[in-house]
Amino acid sequence: MTHEGSLELSEVVVMRHSLLMEQLRVLRDRSTSIEAFQTAMADASFLLAADAYRDLPLSTAAIETPLCPCEVPALAGPAPALVPILRAGLGLVPGFRRLLPRTVVGHLGIYRSESTLKPVEYFGKLPDGLAERRTFVLDPMLATGGSADAALRHLKAAGARDLELVVLIAAPEGIEALERSHPDVRLRVGVVDEGLDARGFIVPGLGDAGDRQFGTEGA
Ligand code: PRP
Repeated sequence: MTHEGSLELSEVVVMRHSLLMEQLRVLRDRSTSIEAFQTAMADASFLLAADAYRDLPLSTAAIETPLCPCEVPALAGPAPALVPILRAGLGLVPGFRRLLPRTVVGHLGIYRSESTLKPVEYFGKLPDGLAERRTFVLDPMLATGGSADAALRHLKAAGARDLELVVLIAAPEGIEALERSHPDVRLRVGVVDEGLDARGFIVPGLGDAGDRQFGTEGA
């Protein structure tokens, strides 16, 4: 697997979009305000969504332009499902929802224990019909991969089959873990960072995405 360029290998797509790099510069900077952090996260979610939606299935629709009747491509199939992993995943919902408002949204509450780094599930509310929907799991950060693994297991048990995990910053350790445990799940990442520190934080990363979005640092 390579982490360079916009290549697709082993179902891992690394975006490396220049505008996304600029938004990441803002998000990574420890001096960024809570307002600017929210804005940059929402802006990044538009770029991730535009990339994630690029190959949604199309059929044709008959319409009339001001000049003539014609058949044009039109989105097909049931509305995709979005499943943000609470809390930080909420920050990626705006772009995905704005670009495709008929998406249905499920929520999975999962936090990572600071002592064991293992995921702890505390909430789940999913839409119906997951077996027929393309399902995008949203989380800005993929560190060890434990939280994403728990979310994907939960979604598969609920019937989801066409799954894609969308993250903003991934550690190589998390990518490798998911390639082993969920080789059937597509993984779309904005950028791949150096790795994890002793506390399991992504380096250089951006810190705790949930705390920085919601102002709970030190709480
Ligand atoms: C962060 C992040 C991911 C997870 C990544 O959430 O948003 O969900 O950790 O770590 P992992 O890949 O090692 O599981 P956190 O536990 O801080 O919860 P929060 O979103 O409520 O802040």
